[in-house]
Amino acid sequence: MARSIAQREGATDEQMLREQLDVQLREAGEKERQLERYASDLRDTFKAERARAEELQVSYVATVRALVNAVEARDAYTGAHAERVAAYGLELARRVEPDLARDPQIEFGFLLHDVGKIAIPDEVLHKADYLGPEEQRLMRSHPEVGYEIVRGVGFLSDAAQIVRHHHERWDGEGYPDGLSGEDVPLAARIFSVADALDAITTDRPYRPGAPIARARAEIRALAGTQFDPAVIARLDEIPDERLEQIRGGC
Ligand SMILES: [Fe+2]
Repeated sequence: MARSIAQREGATDEQMLREQLDVQLREAGEKERQLERYASDLRDTFKAERARAEELQVSYVATVRALVNAVEARDAYTGAHAERVAAYGLELARRVEPDLARDPQIEFGFLLHDVGKIAIPDEVLHKADYLGPEEQRLMRSHPEVGYEIVRGVGFLSDAAQIVRHHHERWDGEGYPDGLSGEDVPLAARIFSVADALDAITTDRPYRPGAPIARARAEIRALAGTQFDPAVIARLDEIPDERLEQIRGGC
């Protein structure tokens, strides 16, 4: 600290102490302002980072929607199937494993489950009659094709697991890998229940959609064979009104 005027001119101890105190206070004030500037810079950086992350998330969602629209544009009568099935799936996921439901990739996977159908020829995809063995093989290739489409996309690496395994079954009789029980990723086990719920309750050209109660009964009858019994138990906890809301498009 520089020698003060008071010291040079033989000032009293009290004056000297006061001057020293003033200097210390000024220094402390300067440090405090410096800290405030750092804090403010950090806040600005954090805000900018958050805005960038939000922008990125918006573009992720837009990309996923574009892919989903490309699939659904080819399959007119299923309507907003991907949106509904994603809503059923998320409702169920929140009850099965809340942390899983918070991962945005889960919704992406639910929405994109049938992205591989892009590669299925129209005459197979839209065929009303029974599919021959080769047509069936083509149709059943869509989970692997979809997986190949999305697996290299960084923000879809977890979603790719749902795309690949959404036709696996609890008893191992599904495809493409014939996984069984808990080897089937949990999100895919949840998805397959949501997919069945939507399929049973949606109108088709050859039959009207079934009521929620009948869909529940049909799905419950397949607990332990097609579906994970623990997931079915959670489905029973979702009130009919909520499922009706999703069915109606909310
Ligand atoms: Fe599928």
